[in-house]
Amino acid sequence: MPTMDYLIRSSRVIDVSGGDVSGASGPGANAASAPLDAEVDVLVQGGRIAEVGKGLAAPKGVREIDGRGNIVLPGLVDLHVHLREPGQEYKEDIESGSRAAAAGGITTMCCMPNTRPVNDCRAVTDLIVRRSREVGIARVLPIGAVSKGLEGKSLAEFGEMKEAGIVAVSDDGRPIMDAGLMRRALEYGKTFGLPVVQHAEDLNLAEGGVMNEGAVATRAGLRGQPPQAESIMVARDIELVEWTGAQYHVAHASTARSMELVRDAKKRGLPVSCEVAPHHFTLTDEACASYNTDMKVAPPLRNESDRQALLQALADGTVDCIATDHAPHSEVEKDVEFDCASCGMLGLETALSLSLELVNDGVIDLRRMAYLLTQGPARLFSLDAGIGTLAVGSPADLVMFNPETRWVVDRNAVQSRSKNTPYHGRKVPGQVLLTLFGGNPVFDRKGLCDE
Ligand code: DOR
Ligand code: ZN
Repeated sequence: MPTMDYLIRSSRVIDVSGGDVSGASGPGANAASAPLDAEVDVLVQGGRIAEVGKGLAAPKGVREIDGRGNIVLPGLVDLHVHLREPGQEYKEDIESGSRAAAAGGITTMCCMPNTRPVNDCRAVTDLIVRRSREVGIARVLPIGAVSKGLEGKSLAEFGEMKEAGIVAVSDDGRPIMDAGLMRRALEYGKTFGLPVVQHAEDLNLAEGGVMNEGAVATRAGLRGQPPQAESIMVARDIELVEWTGAQYHVAHASTARSMELVRDAKKRGLPVSCEVAPHHFTLTDEACASYNTDMKVAPPLRNESDRQALLQALADGTVDCIATDHAPHSEVEKDVEFDCASCGMLGLETALSLSLELVNDGVIDLRRMAYLLTQGPARLFSLDAGIGTLAVGSPADLVMFNPETRWVVDRNAVQSRSKNTPYHGRKVPGQVLLTLFGGNPVFDRKGLCDE
């Protein structure tokens, strides 16, 4: 099917790829050009960004879209998603996950390897790449396993997975507990240009805790795990980064101490980065007091002082990107006692709105938000130049949303195959109206692109 051409008129268009809004110590400063933040038109032709500017002439046959009152960003980039295909399609598959992404304005997502079978070899990477192209609703970039079968014993085949298209390696869902294996992972990761993404959780300190250790866990009678289970592993890993010089990324960083460690490592010029998930900057362990299993996640929701430290770190440049850790689970895994429930929450359809809450609360400005959701993640995993930008010639991946519209999250209205959102009933700002992926409308709330 040939793509239509579109001209989006008079939205506030923000593209920070031309400037440095990465924060105090973030990567990739580019003082030569400035970020774009202006009310302009965006012309999409042949699936690419053809022109961005004021009062553009409409070429023949182009569909004009009135964008007044809306914001346009490059399609959002999410470095941390669980798509469950192959193997657990009853929770999610590449198609339902891509639809959820499109509804949330996300056009590029990196999917974690804890599928069944695990993505630890070329055949599984190939399958994910092929299937996501067939679906064609979002760009799916696989992350390969660090260890074969996620067993933490021997390294997976980084080289052949890299050839097949992985952009990073991780045992996410499980930590790389063995420091010797982590050393080798960093060394091989460096050789192949693959960042190593750590699920930082010392299992001996975590002792199977099902929520954050502290007063709330005590009152609820649930076993807690201390924030040090995370930060001790981050500290150890930073020692290994200093030794190996390899690129290291902390997944879903959740504690105040982790933020201090990453901040300090960056000051020392180490190739250390981190992401924060919306649930960790919007919710605390108080949410577990009602035994709602949709609040169970790894790492667990922390206390208010940890949350405040994340907000500070989002603002000051310590955090490199917002990533959802979208982790669908069915009622079979969630409709059980808190102790027995699987860890994980949906994230794709609410990330933009929850990030906008940060803007409305004065924690960050819109440009910094745009960075954290587009250029920040794209640079971390060295994604292709056209991703996370509206530069002329880039694939026309973009999201248009109304920042004023408020909507109520409804677990029964999600695109995801699972319903485990912790935000059911929450009123949030910012409604996605249109998502273009390669110039195709993959989400179009109001039929703006209809023939
Ligand atoms: O809560 C989580 N769920 N944390 C993880 O690290 C893994 C994920 C999953 O795969 O369900
Ligand atoms: Zn994860």
